[in-house]
Amino acid sequence: ITVYVPLDASALSLGAEAVAKAISAEASRRGADVRLVRNGSRGMYWLEPLVEVETTAGRVAYGPVQAEDVPSLFNAGFLQTAQHPLALGPTESIPYLKRQQRLTFARVGIVDPRSLDDYRAHGGYRGLANALRMSGIDIVQSVLDAGLRGRGGAAFPAGIKWKTCLDAPPGQKYIVCNADEGDSGTFSDRMIMEGDPFVLIEGMTIAGLAVGATRGYIYLRVEYPHAQRALLAAIAAAESAGYLGDNVCGSGKAFQLEVRMAAGAYICGEETSLLESLEGKRGQVRFKPPLPAIQGLFGKPTVINNVVTLASVPIILDRGAGFYRDYGSGKSRGTLPIQLAGNLKQTGLVELAFGATLRELIEDFGGGTASGRPLRAVQVGGPLGAYIPPSRLDTPIDYEAFAAIGGMLGHGGVVVFDDTVDMAAQARYAMEFCAIESCGKCTPCRIGSTRGVEVIDRMLAGNAIERERNEVLLRDLCQTMIDGSLCALGGMAPFPVLSALDHFHEDFAGAADKAA
Ligand code: NAI
Ligand code: SF4
Repeated sequence: ITVYVPLDASALSLGAEAVAKAISAEASRRGADVRLVRNGSRGMYWLEPLVEVETTAGRVAYGPVQAEDVPSLFNAGFLQTAQHPLALGPTESIPYLKRQQRLTFARVGIVDPRSLDDYRAHGGYRGLANALRMSGIDIVQSVLDAGLRGRGGAAFPAGIKWKTCLDAPPGQKYIVCNADEGDSGTFSDRMIMEGDPFVLIEGMTIAGLAVGATRGYIYLRVEYPHAQRALLAAIAAAESAGYLGDNVCGSGKAFQLEVRMAAGAYICGEETSLLESLEGKRGQVRFKPPLPAIQGLFGKPTVINNVVTLASVPIILDRGAGFYRDYGSGKSRGTLPIQLAGNLKQTGLVELAFGATLRELIEDFGGGTASGRPLRAVQVGGPLGAYIPPSRLDTPIDYEAFAAIGGMLGHGGVVVFDDTVDMAAQARYAMEFCAIESCGKCTPCRIGSTRGVEVIDRMLAGNAIERERNEVLLRDLCQTMIDGSLCALGGMAPFPVLSALDHFHEDFAGAADKAA
């Protein structure tokens, strides 16, 4: 009997390792024939550690399971689908999972991430097989036709980026995967790398074939040791099976892949400072142009895409551009893996076609606030994203719809706050975050963020007249940062600040006013 216990970092942090050990020990004590598979997470984090048992009718789930629950699970005969207070029924029928449209995450939580055979048994490497029969320009055209836009945050069409690199003069070219997932409340890259690492390797190999790059690097967030282990094992397996190396699948084309641990700085997730860091230098932002697609790593043409973007490529090459494009709304095609975090009952990963509303995500999937108190603000798109008030919860998940309300989808992180949040403190935090993480290259960000913290402090300490004067100064400073910063960190940190001022102005009442 096959039993699944996740090896995902979040599940481990909730006790999955102890659960796995307890199941093995209990099974051998009882002489039960149990095959333990360490899968990725299904992305229902409030149910982790989620234990699944393979039955003739499919997998059934139990959760959240702790090691001390294991004897009672065996007593209840859980290997034969018994009743138990932790029983959740067939995994695929759990509404949170059933209502999703999992394309990029199709295998996450289902396959054994350490098994190349399991990957192939679930449709893996079919995209590469098709790509090997196509020319570089045809592969690029498929990605263009699919309408895939960069899932790291900027939503730039991946096909146009690839075309720029393909059109650069022949010679050494690189594929770089930005796996320095640094936005608050985001974990979709990590889940892919831990739960289905081969899909990223396949996507990068296809990108290499498309643009004529023979080497790839995964720049991996240093705080992701479990992802590192999963990737290294998968790369070794792909190499020995001939999917990576000098002669990919006997095609005569080369693609080698390496993992490099990141420097531990938020700014190293910005593509040009990532390249600096990858070259062994201090991670400082470069001027653009030249674009990395023309002059990137070691000065050579380089495609840099985020993990989810590259992991979405195999299904496009397998099922066709039209299949992928059929999902979505407007110019936002395909699906977005959304990460629900913060004050929610049901946090986790929700992959849906673009077009669902923020309210559906928060209420139907998230189940409302964990505290049961009224929702007050939602930050979408990481620490540089605007705070969205409850009146805008009906905004669809669509790049353009979010831009229209002054927000951004970014990397798909959704962080929910209830009515106990102090939005002035959140605004101060945005400026402070920028001051701490600034690479120091340009003045509006380096100096402006520090001055921003000081101005907010003066607003909060002063009376009504001082508050008004300092608000004018703060708004002016934000505009200078937006207009004059070299990269998104200084250029976007003002958005959470301005949205807090615009929608939650009452929280900025000075200490003097509050005392009065
Ligand atoms: P950008 O708009 O400057 O560039 C987008 C991408 O398109 C870059 O890779 C750029 O090199 C490429 N590009 C633009 N024109 C091109 C052309 N003609 N040919 C080929 N390539 C072209 O945005 P940037 O600064 O790279 O990213 C900002 C975004 O990053 C923000 O919107 C934010 O959401 C996101 N972000 C994500 C984080 C995460 O943890 N995933 C953390 C912080 C920010
Ligand atoms: Fe560096 Fe900030 Fe300027 Fe970006 S905006 S280049 S992080 S100083």
